[in-house]
Amino acid sequence: MKEKILELLKLNEDNFVSGQKISTNLNVSRTAIWKSINQLKEEGYKIESVSRRGYRIISSPDVLTYQEIKSYLHTRFIGNNILHFDTIDSTNTKAKELAALDQEEGIVVIAEEQTRGRGRLGRNWISPKGKGVWMSIILRPDIDPKDASKITQIGAAAVYKSIKELGINTYIKWPNDIVLNGKKVCGILTEMSGELNRVNYVVIGIGINANISKEEFSEDIMETATSLKQEKENYIDRKLLVGKILNNFESLYLELIEENTIKQAIKICKEASILIGKEIRILSRNSEEKGRVLDITDEGELLVENENGTIKKIISGEISVRGIDGYV
Ligand code: BTN
Repeated sequence: MKEKILELLKLNEDNFVSGQKISTNLNVSRTAIWKSINQLKEEGYKIESVSRRGYRIISSPDVLTYQEIKSYLHTRFIGNNILHFDTIDSTNTKAKELAALDQEEGIVVIAEEQTRGRGRLGRNWISPKGKGVWMSIILRPDIDPKDASKITQIGAAAVYKSIKELGINTYIKWPNDIVLNGKKVCGILTEMSGELNRVNYVVIGIGINANISKEEFSEDIMETATSLKQEKENYIDRKLLVGKILNNFESLYLELIEENTIKQAIKICKEASILIGKEIRILSRNSEEKGRVLDITDEGELLVENENGTIKKIISGEISVRGIDGYV
């Protein structure tokens, strides 16, 4: 009910909507309206109430609810259902729980804060309240499980493109980082449940440091992590950013499920690559190898020439890529 009232107030932004109009449109009592308006105010909406004129919305809080994001969305199925949490352990963990309960493709889990945000290779992910985009999408692609890592490339391309649409030029550090001024602003964690030849579900988790200030990063990552706001000194509109990411993600993901290619995503990943042409170190659990990055293949693998001239295709799996002297 409060969602419906909010929708009506937003439709009439800048104007008063009378209690009478709300009451007849939504078939609710004046007392029920008053209660909902108070709830909305508690959630951070600024609503003016003037007797005989009604209610007028003045401003909305900076929260990533469906109500706040939907006006930016033009997707078929991604984000039709957005589950918003004020605080959660990890949106990826929640999305996996829901996917295991057969919840449908396209559900997005978003939280204002994660208390146990997870990164790749068992690392943790700092996710302070209201300062970033911490979200996970449930997917059910009919693809070979070995192709699931392509979804990370789609995610990276979608995030890069969306940040660019906000006027900020970043780089993609294969396979799952978005980099600005040599530091990480976004990480992607793709998790899959499947059998040998069948995917049950994929959850892609996207973490973007939007408005985090320098002091909020722990000391161990201060040198390698940053936020969009920190680098650009501009407050980032998280709602707009989420809307753009979901739109761009769906359009690139449709290419995978309808045409079984990720050409568009790879084109973006190549154009934005910070690694192509660079000397890198490839770290796996108990070895380190040096090489020069030649390209990213149509399948999303990194093409690397190692020191003795052998050319290898690398899939993301359990490895990390570093620059010769540091993160990139
Ligand atoms: C990485 O770079 O190591 C990946 C980081 C992924 C972080 C995001 S935040 C939303 C989602 N929920 C999680 O627990 N992790 C991902």
